[in-house]
Amino acid sequence: MSKEQRITVTAALPYANGPIHIGHLAGVYVPADIFVRYQRSRGRDILFVCGSDEHGVPITLRAKKEGKNPQEIVDTYHKMISRSFEEFGISFDIYSRTSSPVHHQTASDFFTHLNNTGVFTEKTSEQYYDEKSQQFLADRYITGTCPNCGNENAYGDQCEKCGSSLSPEDLINPVSQLSGESPIRKETSHWYIPLDRYEDWLTKWIVEGHKDDWKVNVYGQCKSWIDQGLKPRAVTRDLDWGVKVPLEEAEGKVLYVWFDAPIGYISATKEWAEASGKDWEPYWKDENTRLLHFIGKDNIVFHCIIFPVMLKAHGGYILPENVPANEFMNLEGEKISTSRNWAVWLHEYLEEFPGKQDVLRYTLCANAPETKDNDFTWKDFQARNNNELGAILGNFVKRAIDFTTKNFEGKVPAQGMMKKPDLELEKIISEAPAKISQALEAYKFREALGLLIDVARSGNKFLADTEPWKVIKEDMDRAGHIMNLSIQCVANLAILADPFLPQSTEKMRQMIGQDELGWDEAGSLELVPEGRELGKSEVLFARIEDEDIEKQIEKLKKEDVEEEKPELKDEIVFDDFMKIEIRTGQILEAEKVEKSKKLIKITVDMGFEKRTILSGIAEHFEPGDLPGKQVSVVVNLAPRKMMGIESQGMILLAEDDEGKLVFVTPESEIDNGSVIR
Ligand code: 2FM
Ligand code: ZN
Repeated sequence: MSKEQRITVTAALPYANGPIHIGHLAGVYVPADIFVRYQRSRGRDILFVCGSDEHGVPITLRAKKEGKNPQEIVDTYHKMISRSFEEFGISFDIYSRTSSPVHHQTASDFFTHLNNTGVFTEKTSEQYYDEKSQQFLADRYITGTCPNCGNENAYGDQCEKCGSSLSPEDLINPVSQLSGESPIRKETSHWYIPLDRYEDWLTKWIVEGHKDDWKVNVYGQCKSWIDQGLKPRAVTRDLDWGVKVPLEEAEGKVLYVWFDAPIGYISATKEWAEASGKDWEPYWKDENTRLLHFIGKDNIVFHCIIFPVMLKAHGGYILPENVPANEFMNLEGEKISTSRNWAVWLHEYLEEFPGKQDVLRYTLCANAPETKDNDFTWKDFQARNNNELGAILGNFVKRAIDFTTKNFEGKVPAQGMMKKPDLELEKIISEAPAKISQALEAYKFREALGLLIDVARSGNKFLADTEPWKVIKEDMDRAGHIMNLSIQCVANLAILADPFLPQSTEKMRQMIGQDELGWDEAGSLELVPEGRELGKSEVLFARIEDEDIEKQIEKLKKEDVEEEKPELKDEIVFDDFMKIEIRTGQILEAEKVEKSKKLIKITVDMGFEKRTILSGIAEHFEPGDLPGKQVSVVVNLAPRKMMGIESQGMILLAEDDEGKLVFVTPESEIDNGSVIR
């Protein structure tokens, strides 16, 4: 089999901790599905695998938030995600899940093989530990400030703002996501994959080998990681949710989710092969197979560096030929946010716009964040439907069918002599398949879609130039010829649009009474035979009205306001509250702490004694303005030393969304040392 013919396409496994939104679709699933449908139409042996990513901290955190166990969470979201993908028409050959037995076995065997062949190093080190929750804080259990871009909400494994891959140790001001407290350091041992040993190989393979064929954004990220120097990376975690580390001495440890998840592609292939009586191995091991990973930009390091190193270290596997990662899709000018509910959710879209799957596919592809972040707006969605899909493609198809039906008894008339506008149309149609193919093979989906719409545009131009409604009055044969060519153009569009708009091309085929044809048949004016009876014409893209869009914009705004309710800490009992001793005090003196940007040293008169308190407010207040102020002080907080000075309590401050601080001051003057409760 030639290299051209077998292709394994993987689409990032979505975490089963929430529904799918348009950001996922635009970045990963729509382009992957277009690519796969196109390759299938070319008759290639292509396998399209995906499934739910059901391990890791994203799942356990969600479970904690919803007060459920992780299994309940993944069961709920796996069902929801797979159903909405199916209804939307993402044509996976298999949508599996990483909690499946075949995956646990495959991931476990993969680990064992690497361990037995001496790939890993085992190392004991100090890691962040939450004493209150008695748990090590890996990955997303810990957040803090990104050392690279200053994002204050970076995760322990990654900063979603700048895309850098992090370790918990890299975070500035780390905070536990479980208790909200600063973690301590505690010893634990783990298995590491020595990425550093693969630097030379990665340099050859990516930096030198894929300079010209990988997307600039992907290549650039990889190169900068490799240039910065790679470190060994732990592939195990102290967690109780995941694939158990298959070693006796590793009780209580599981595989790191980013170790097991990409192996999920292999497990899904096995599951598909088993169910369809095929052999899975050629899809992962035959040098003639093209392996392609469709992902979002936040997954680049895992698919271009870590997973390939795993495959290489294991041996016997092929490596990805390309990783056409996209940037992010924003929504109405703002970053999509699950926690703020600032998203268009696929399952809701399917309910609110029934039968309009293609409109969303089209909008997301026309606006695909291929080279930079892009923006989805409802206005644009409406305009794309009304002015492009409806006015260009839908309109051409309807005019061609309706005019033929009305004037030629619903049958395809005969062709005659080719005149100038006919030859122009012929040229456009004959060149279109190769042009669109070229764009698709280069992962330029927006360009490919533009070329497709150009064909429909040429169809409209052809009708405008040839004016069959006038010609028919004098020359029925010529009018018939024009309509024959128009129907041929519709038949070509039905093939060429199929990867992009599969719902609509099915309707187009019905209208021209045509079975599904392969891509290689496109380009010809002989697709539909003379005399063929046409089907009923249909409006392919009904207008989307202002009110439909306004409803969506309103809904977004409403949810955004509702979601502004802050996340509150866990409930406490009254006795917990009574443990805190808060009393009024008065600031006597205040001065900046030398060499500290933030700290002010404050002397407070508590009535019964004087206290020295350090407060991190120097960026908000001038020390000179503070003496005389009455404040509220937590007096039984354990003393803490900062910059060599002991702080004996905490002054309470209120902070607004913008970070503005004000003192919590008694409403009228009261004796210092009065109890607050
Ligand atoms: O970023 C994510 O949503 C991950 N669940 C993607 C995993 S892709 C793969 F490697 F499985
Ligand atoms: Zn960052």
